[in-house]
Amino acid sequence: MALNELLNKHLQFIMFGGKGGVGKTTMASAAALELAKENKVLLFTTDPAPSLSDSFGQAIGSEPTAVAGTKNLFAMEIDARKVLEEFKKEYGSEILDILQQGTYLANEETEELFRLDIPGLDEVMSLKKITDFMENSDYQQYIVDTAPTGHTLRLLMLPELLDNWIKFLAGLRWKYHAMVRQFAKEQRTDKADEFILEMKKTVKKVRTLLQNPEKTEFVVVTIAEKMGVSETEDLIRNLEHMHIPSRHIIINNIFPQEETDFARMRRKTQERYIHEIKEKFSTHIITEVVLQPSEIQGIDSLQKLGAQLF
Ligand SMILES: Nc1ncnc2c1ncn2[C@@H]1O[C@H](COP(=O)(O)OP(=O)(O)OP(=O)(O)O)[C@@H](O)[C@H]1O
Ligand SMILES: [Mg+2]
Repeated sequence: MALNELLNKHLQFIMFGGKGGVGKTTMASAAALELAKENKVLLFTTDPAPSLSDSFGQAIGSEPTAVAGTKNLFAMEIDARKVLEEFKKEYGSEILDILQQGTYLANEETEELFRLDIPGLDEVMSLKKITDFMENSDYQQYIVDTAPTGHTLRLLMLPELLDNWIKFLAGLRWKYHAMVRQFAKEQRTDKADEFILEMKKTVKKVRTLLQNPEKTEFVVVTIAEKMGVSETEDLIRNLEHMHIPSRHIIINNIFPQEETDFARMRRKTQERYIHEIKEKFSTHIITEVVLQPSEIQGIDSLQKLGAQLF
């Protein structure tokens, strides 16, 4: 069992991701418990469906909540919609200004444009919330339980998307300034420009963090099935493409050896895929986790799994 490299104290940002239902939340929770033996850890989820509450059997709020029975582990479920609402409250009028001053659209039209939620903006705001946390609080490690693959890939591609959106706004802004220059000598930077600058900084921060191999790791969780292998290939290819460091794969739900005939047969098929994963991802560190007789929920069973993982 070899997640030991995650104990490297420079590593700050550890994501757990993979296909739906393979055990992302369980592995993230178990690893967070283990890491919290040494460090102050914040575990959070970007999955819109509540997951950590189920995993720990305790209500986890949208602000860091102390996990009962631990000293150093805090967990939160980020409500991306709420974060976006807060963001709009703070910057909405600036965005509207930019749209209104830089385009020839009527007010009602720009308002409409603004209300057309920019796809994924809510999730980018949850990434922003995380980088804000990283700057302003004293956690040593941040563990992320992500949503199933498609959703997570979209989330990780967002800095790129948002960058384009900022460029679009900055373009409008430039037009506006050029127009103003014709009438007035003095140039002033107002709140709308500050907003664009702020967003640029956020995107840069998020991207720099995601691509830093010293600080970041994406642990891929999968199962020993055909779909598990192909989705892992897809995910790892995308992570490579986005320069997001990923060195670990967890193969979960492996049938125990020499139980019933049924388990033996399933295990045999699984071994074929385990072998395939090891061949295909020979540079990754592979950790195998056996299927337990019952669900892994609550501190005790998560702690047992955590000890196994490291
Ligand atoms: N090795 C295991 N043995 C037995 N049960 C497991 C094991 N790993 C996970 N489980 C159970 O499987 C279920 C699904 O796990 P989990 O919620 O961690 O998956 P997930 O990948 O986060 O799912 P989702 O994609 O819905 O977020 C849970 O009930 C969990 O307790
Ligand atoms: Mg989950």
